Amino acid sequence: MLLWLTAAGSLLLLLVRALFPYWADDCAHILRSLLLAARLLKYKRSQPFRGVLDAFLAAARRHPAKTFLHFEGERFSYGDVDLRSNRLARVLRQEARLREGDAVALFLGNEPNLVCAWLGLAKLGCPVALLNFHIRAKSLLHCFSCCGAKVLVTSAELQDAVEEVLPALREQGVSVYLLSETRKIRGVGSLADKISEASDRPLPRDLRANVTVRSTALYIYTSGTTGLPKAAIVTHERMWAASFIQSACGVARDDVFYINLPLYHSSGFLIGLGGSIERGISVVLKRKFSASQFWDDCREHNVTVMQYIGETMRYLCNAPKKDNEKEHKVRLALGNGLRRDVWSEFLWRFGDIKVKELYAATEGNIGFINYTSKVGAVGRLNFFHRLWTQKCSAVVSFGETPLNVVILSLQLIFPHLLIKFDIEKEEPVRNSQGLCIEAARGEMGLLVGKVTQRSPFVGYAGNEQQTEKKRLRDVMKNGDLYFNTGDLLRFDDDNFVYFHDRVGDTFRWKGENVATSEVADVLTMARCILEANVYGVKVKGNEGRAGMAAITLKDGEDFDCVDAYRQAVNYLPAYARPRFIRIQPALEMTGTFKLKKTKLVDQGFDPALISDPLYYLDAARQTFAPMTEEVYSAITCGTIIL
Ligand SMILES: *[C@@H]1O[C@H](CO)[C@@H](O)[C@H](O)[C@H]1NC(C)=O
Ligand SMILES: *[C@@H]1O[C@H](CO)[C@@H](O)[C@H](O)[C@H]1NC(C)=O
Ligand SMILES: *[C@@H]1O[C@H](CO)[C@@H](O)[C@H](O)[C@H]1NC(C)=O
Repeated sequence: MLLWLTAAGSLLLLLVRALFPYWADDCAHILRSLLLAARLLKYKRSQPFRGVLDAFLAAARRHPAKTFLHFEGERFSYGDVDLRSNRLARVLRQEARLREGDAVALFLGNEPNLVCAWLGLAKLGCPVALLNFHIRAKSLLHCFSCCGAKVLVTSAELQDAVEEVLPALREQGVSVYLLSETRKIRGVGSLADKISEASDRPLPRDLRANVTVRSTALYIYTSGTTGLPKAAIVTHERMWAASFIQSACGVARDDVFYINLPLYHSSGFLIGLGGSIERGISVVLKRKFSASQFWDDCREHNVTVMQYIGETMRYLCNAPKKDNEKEHKVRLALGNGLRRDVWSEFLWRFGDIKVKELYAATEGNIGFINYTSKVGAVGRLNFFHRLWTQKCSAVVSFGETPLNVVILSLQLIFPHLLIKFDIEKEEPVRNSQGLCIEAARGEMGLLVGKVTQRSPFVGYAGNEQQTEKKRLRDVMKNGDLYFNTGDLLRFDDDNFVYFHDRVGDTFRWKGENVATSEVADVLTMARCILEANVYGVKVKGNEGRAGMAAITLKDGEDFDCVDAYRQAVNYLPAYARPRFIRIQPALEMTGTFKLKKTKLVDQGFDPALISDPLYYLDAARQTFAPMTEEVYSAITCGTIIL
């Protein structure tokens, strides 16, 4: 009898497995999410309000001597950073007459000063704007003004950039403070002496008594494909949600986290730094990413968790091979934008590292985590998701029942949709009633997230126009409101989520959608090609855009036009093959290694405008042939048909 029952039990289990192959992963993920949601709820309800700063203070009390930051050979314990941030807060409060709620812009590199300044200002209840330290002149002034700050804190390395805009800042009545000891900016005093003399006693809580979970904690700038950067408002609630990602991915209390991404972006600051504080772990902080030092750093500091973006993984894989590259303790990699080919090579070279691919936008109200082992997927819709999506309008009216709050505050279960998108016009397809149309399973669509009280879209500071651009109305019903992620995704029949491309990174040619990242993946498999930046260019007399690639060559290699041609023809459908190739000494990037395209698109393929070597796909001769003025005019007047 018992035997029979056991057999039936195992059979049932097998059946469940076969029908729902991912149920164990789904359940584990849902359980973890629920536990996190319960914690978030507790923090949101707690009186007085509890923010990520309080998690830091708790960690500093629990283990003051534990290393918080390793930076350029120096070690700062949780206690050290706590005391230094107290001193910094006292001095800034006195010098700049700061009060709760006053925004302060930090123009600092990736260094412990930035961390101390943020913590110190958080102790005063002041939101912080994280300025990108690569920006200059007009862009710097723009970013500074849109957060409404009257105080700028900087360090000596950025002296030149600050001096350039100082007259304009002065005119606006802005005070500038310098944290470093050594050099000085003309007319700007250094706070270094005052900071070292100030008292390090804790700051009274009532200085930040009015801060709530909905208050602005940070302004983080997001750079779009066009225009000046926008300041996304990050509330304390959002900061908690992002800092839980480490925990959701299984980072433990004894892990060592490696941050080599800029802290002025959400991955580095919210997921990297915020998450490490939430876990109370040690961080190895780098001024900037270096592929050649990466594994040495990991070995030296016993790093166990690394953070990546697609490009940094590619740089690691492009670095020359070494014998000891599997000798390290890295067990987990968190990030986004990892392409399939790079991912397999990464594992093959550097050993068994669990990769957790995330999808989320700084300002967005949607996110996915890849918690199963499906190559290529960025996430998964689970049972809760689907239930919620179907029932979303009903649930909203439940109000703040605890269960509803738990489910909604997950930020992992939020109402979202994929809608049909017209690549050509770069706008959603609408039906005769002017409403959007849900994309079919397997079909690429634009991801939009319903804006509700629980999944709000706070928008950009001082930029109603840009905020409005990200809002999409009349999606499923007249008068509803969604957040437009600008990302094209695909859900498959098994509920896996795949990232396709960003709007603008996909172009249309011969009636087909070409994803630039896919083309780049194929081109970089050619022996001579190191990197490729793929985009579409207008060709007179043709609809859509023809594919073009700006490439760089590997060290010591010449452009092998026949091999590149074979690569393109063997692995890409005809419409996706790049028609033009432009060889550059280096590809231009933004601060987060996103490739710049706008200028390239404008320059097109006209040899008169471009001094780089230029080639076109010559199907008759089965090669990429040099572009000449004659070929150019033959293409534009239609004698050569693409
Ligand atoms: C904080 O709230 C109290 C009471 O509501 C108010 O008197 C005080 O001015 C507020 N402080 C700031 C900085 O807004
Ligand atoms: C790294 O781990 C090794 C062996 O466990 C230990 O001897 C060493 O001190 C550790 N290094 C650091 C920087 O913690
Ligand atoms: C998702 O995670 C699994 C397991 O860590 C991994 O095998 C898979 O490649 C990941 N997918 C992506 C796109 O990273």
